[in-house]
Amino acid sequence: MKVDVLLGLQWGDEGKGKVVDVLTPKYDIIARFQGGPNAGHTLEFNNIKHVLHTIPSGIFRENKLNIIGNGVVIDPAIFKKEIEALGKIGFDISKNLLVSKKAHLIMPTHRLLDAASESKKGETKIGSTLKGIGPTYRDKTSRDGLRVGDIEINFKNKYESRKKAHIEQLEKLYNFDYKDQLENLEKEWFEGIDTLKKFKFADTEHIINNALKEGKSIIAEGAQGTLLDIDFGSYPFVTSSNTICAGACTGLGIAPNKVGKVYGIFKAYCTRVGMGPFPTELMDETGQKMRDVGNEYGSTTGRPRRCGWIDMVALNYAIMINGVTELIMMKTDVLDNFDTIKACVAYKVNGVETKELPYELNSDIEPVFVDLPGWKTNLTEVTSEGQFPEALKSYIKFIEKETGVPVKIVSVGPNREQTIIR
Ligand code: GDP
Ligand code: IMO
Ligand code: MG
Repeated sequence: MKVDVLLGLQWGDEGKGKVVDVLTPKYDIIARFQGGPNAGHTLEFNNIKHVLHTIPSGIFRENKLNIIGNGVVIDPAIFKKEIEALGKIGFDISKNLLVSKKAHLIMPTHRLLDAASESKKGETKIGSTLKGIGPTYRDKTSRDGLRVGDIEINFKNKYESRKKAHIEQLEKLYNFDYKDQLENLEKEWFEGIDTLKKFKFADTEHIINNALKEGKSIIAEGAQGTLLDIDFGSYPFVTSSNTICAGACTGLGIAPNKVGKVYGIFKAYCTRVGMGPFPTELMDETGQKMRDVGNEYGSTTGRPRRCGWIDMVALNYAIMINGVTELIMMKTDVLDNFDTIKACVAYKVNGVETKELPYELNSDIEPVFVDLPGWKTNLTEVTSEGQFPEALKSYIKFIEKETGVPVKIVSVGPNREQTIIR
């Protein structure tokens, strides 16, 4: 068997959580491979709306194994809150969640360093979720990180020595006032460590590869999106991990030839939260309409998401980088009331038209749009493809033609049921 990978093709928040939950019945194992609590993956079913940050979105289905892979960074304090929130609605997940010993821990001082770095950057800040993601991955690559497996051996000493180094940075590099916050953050963090210890830690790469040999099916759940990838995203306005398909290999310990389907998920339009370039962004009432109808406010930070038309140049780039085999179009219903839908099919850079994503996405880019007719139909109650209005069929055909990849799922609302599989 192979590992199917589901990942975002835009700037995150495409609806990955919803679709992983919908697809989970087809899989035995659901695994997160990168990112951490900067992610907010929303699921809705039976009048429950739930946002997951660290825990894979397969957790609500029975008899499924969920894995937090080595590529993920975990904040125990946030993890504890997630476990408690699940407990409140009657889900005890202690039996169906495994945590990689090689996953790195986000320390309280990583969060403070994130805040210090952003505040030092001032106007050029990234717009980070301030969850400590950047500093934790930085420690990982500089070989100074603290891992889940360390909890079992001489933990307190390792923690204290990392903390000391971070405090030195906070004081000397950033002149950042951390003292008021640290004690509280540490209290919550160590309580989180106690919660984390109740789960099984494992070298999950063995478990995943053995499961493949036994013929079990696995879906890898991406976080963020391709345009936030550390290598291929709109650098430096990106996150600190490889959000692309290759990240599933390094973040779970699977060989590239073990990757099966690659599900690429995108919104029928486009959003971004945080700073950085966004060529098709709408600063006008049309953008505001998308934000209102799509309820475009961050699942992790509550920040308003920037909105704009779909960008086929960026989408095709993401499809190329990831080797996408199937497309999943989300939030289609948000465009229900637009007379005309615009799609960017090329960029004009210094007067020259291109379909390739340039090195720098900046204000010199002028998107070239085509107009497509809106469907002016309430899609939220549509239950089969046969009920799709003609204009929506044309929109899907347009996307398939521009990308050369079939659109296999069309989402028409936040609920599990509002999903049309083609
Ligand atoms: P993720 O990070 O990719 O899992 O996406 P988020 O959960 O951050 O953001 C997606 C938001 O859109 C959530 O509030 C979902 O409940 C909602 N959503 C998902 N699919 C649809 C859809 O087809 N239509 C509408 N209207 N909302 C959707
Ligand atoms: P999901 O998995 C949308 C953005 C932040 C910021 C940049 C860097 O829910 O799609 P970081 O905290 O990683 O240092 O922030 O990346 N960002 C996201 N935007 N969805 C996410 O995750 C995001 N995770 C990070 O807003 O611009
Ligand atoms: Mg999200």
